[in-house]
Amino acid sequence: MVARTLAAGFLKHGHEVTVGTRDPGKLAAWRTQHPDARVGTAADAASAGEVLVLAVKGTAASAALGLAGAANLDGKVIIDTTNPIADAPPDHGALRFFTSLDDSLMERLQREYPSARFVKAFNSVGNALMVNPVLKGGPPTMFICGNDQDAKRIVKTVLDQFGWDTEDMGTVEAARAIEPLCILWCIPGFLRNEWTHAYKVLR
Ligand SMILES: NC(=O)c1ccc[n+]([C@@H]2O[C@H](COP(=O)([O-])OP(=O)(O)OC[C@H]3O[C@@H](n4cnc5c(N)ncnc54)[C@H](OP(=O)(O)O)[C@@H]3O)[C@@H](O)[C@H]2O)c1
Repeated sequence: MVARTLAAGFLKHGHEVTVGTRDPGKLAAWRTQHPDARVGTAADAASAGEVLVLAVKGTAASAALGLAGAANLDGKVIIDTTNPIADAPPDHGALRFFTSLDDSLMERLQREYPSARFVKAFNSVGNALMVNPVLKGGPPTMFICGNDQDAKRIVKTVLDQFGWDTEDMGTVEAARAIEPLCILWCIPGFLRNEWTHAYKVLR
């Protein structure tokens, strides 16, 4: 869902898009609505993309990057939307993570691919609100982090187009705080079926 949603958002804003998947057949219906999108393997998408988006199950993030191929990730900006959700049910609405508060999924991925330029983004909101959300409180805040300033500048231009205020929380270690925002975001959904909110920083 995240890959389809963000791919549609990039197309809407005039970018060229290649979606990578292990099973192109499951995108057949989506492609009829988005005929300009190309669909290929993870390696096709990673080699074609100037900016990459990692939008896979958290437990499969490392495997998906492996399919993309290390050479195709070298120096690339990677928007990391993933959350380290464990294969276990929520506990009273609180998702379980396979990371700890002293570690995060993005740090693990950054260590595995040191020459890739990961930027955490889009992980703390549901996909229905990712592209140009219209909310009573105005534009919501997207928390981002990553080690490369230039990569974060590029991701901010994407977030500007997609209708978000950007809060840069610093280096990759901040993913220890940004990833668990997903747990908080999902609690009203699991407890009360409320899924239409987003975070905003007020000063
Ligand atoms: N859903 C949301 O609203 C939302 C919001 C914020 C963040 N997120 C995060 O964004 C990520 C994507 O979420 P999602 O809900 O769109 O889908 P998801 O069910 O978490 O992931 C689906 C994708 O994971 C890939 N995948 C699964 N196992 C794989 C493996 N072994 N190797 C390679 N790829 C594999 C699949 O790729 P194939 O196409 O190749 O099968 C599929 O496209 C997750 O980390 C999630 O926590 C989701």
